[in-house]
Amino acid sequence: MYIVHVASECAPVAKVGGLADVIFGLSWEHSIRGNDVEIIIPKYDCMRYDQIWGLTLSFNDLWVPWFGGAIHCSVWFGFVHGRKCFFIEPHSNDNYFNRNTFYGCNDDVMRYAFFCKAALEFLQKSGKQPDIIHCHDWQTGLLPVMLAEIYQHHGMWRQRVCYTIHNFKHQGIFGHDILAATGLGRPDYYFSPTQLRDDCNASVLNCMKGGIVYSNFVTTVSPKHAWEARYTGQGHGLGGTLHTHQGKFGGVLNGVDYNTWNPEIDSYLVARYGIDNIDEKYKNKDALRDRFWLYKSNKPIISYIGRLDEQKGLGLICHAAHYALSRGAQFVLLGSPSNNATFNQFAHLRNQLGQSVDCHIELGFNEELSHLIYSGSDMVVVPSAFEPCGLTQLIALRYGTVPIVRSVGGLADTVFDKDYAHIDMSARNGFTFNDLNNSGLESAMNRAIGLYYDYPEEFRRLMINGMHADYSWNHPGTHYMNIYDLIRHK
Ligand code: ADP
Ligand code: GLC
Repeated sequence: MYIVHVASECAPVAKVGGLADVIFGLSWEHSIRGNDVEIIIPKYDCMRYDQIWGLTLSFNDLWVPWFGGAIHCSVWFGFVHGRKCFFIEPHSNDNYFNRNTFYGCNDDVMRYAFFCKAALEFLQKSGKQPDIIHCHDWQTGLLPVMLAEIYQHHGMWRQRVCYTIHNFKHQGIFGHDILAATGLGRPDYYFSPTQLRDDCNASVLNCMKGGIVYSNFVTTVSPKHAWEARYTGQGHGLGGTLHTHQGKFGGVLNGVDYNTWNPEIDSYLVARYGIDNIDEKYKNKDALRDRFWLYKSNKPIISYIGRLDEQKGLGLICHAAHYALSRGAQFVLLGSPSNNATFNQFAHLRNQLGQSVDCHIELGFNEELSHLIYSGSDMVVVPSAFEPCGLTQLIALRYGTVPIVRSVGGLADTVFDKDYAHIDMSARNGFTFNDLNNSGLESAMNRAIGLYYDYPEEFRRLMINGMHADYSWNHPGTHYMNIYDLIRHK
């Protein structure tokens, strides 16, 4: 099968969060099964160009219709750790992808609407006829709309679209200007509630809704979150639309790329280890302490690794730091703040706790350091307000690092509490809590730290259970192949 992913991120070249990992991992899983898989992303100025091999100009004369004129684009090709990747580079004064940032510009919706149009124009002009176009998140929600409304009539009638929603919180809200820019036009038609009109605000249109309405199949990244999105507020206003389209909607749990995230072969670690030589893990713990000048003691290290965004439970992350220290543990944080206010909040935490020999707060994005922290920590904490899937807990499990999580979304689907009597002993792999408040978090952290100190053999059993579990792309790879097969033959 010929599959093309169109997305705004791909690890490690353009990575903000888990979306990048999914594009990287799922595309590989499908290509090793013999499918022809390609990825299209924007050519950002701030990409990791050192992670692209053989970058060459592939299509230089792409003119993308835009606002009644056209923007000239170059399309580049390169291998990202073996994945075939196309990078779209527009040449215009708008400098859509030369902003020294991936997201956060006032014209984000315009930038990605352009990207969708350029991706379709590229596929059409280069004569590519993929069986499946797999789109991701709001940034590519307009692609299936333009495919059906415009490009279908220009030879692209065979393509089927699978649309995966990684985060309902960001939906891409827009108005007449984008209809004009993309050539979709017809405001009366698109403002119909069955089309793109936002379900909460009748005066605007919604990219993600477009993706849901126009795609042949829609997924989100865990079964639990698929349920939450439909039946609780977590669809952020799209619950009704999902209900209307329930026949083509479902949850597929993400996997983790075990070539990248595997302590047995991870070249970022000072000591590699697996279940059979698990004690080697503690050399990484020493290295982590050396790196951050933490005191060497018998204390456990509890970490947070991830974006610092409201979604992740910011107040609880701060509380986890304080509580860990008060309960005789060390705490390490590696986080990328999503705005200035959050940066200041965590800079303050760093000032409060940074002098402690038991705590280190690192603000910014650092892939290499994340590997050291996953391997050198005893536990990770993930106290999310909502979490469509979550990859940090899955990576942690692989590294024998016990997750302490709030039981929502994909966290609930993958972390099984040590004390859950109804879960088989061999499946118990961490600690969970329900209430989104300090006492909820403390109840789980307290039990985790207690087990670490008082019942080290039982703690080790949790580590091993986690390392045994298979959260590779194998199963999700099959689920997505089944979805592709289904929509191809409809
Ligand atoms: P989300 O996509 O909501 O950010 P996930 O848990 O799905 O959360 O994926 C996060 C991914 O990004 C993981 O691979 C994690 O290791 C990585 N990551 C997040 N923040 C950072 C950071 N500051 N430095 C390095 N890696 C990070
Ligand atoms: C999103 C979600 C996260 C998920 C990731 C990859 O950013 O916040 O839960 O794991 O996408 O699907």
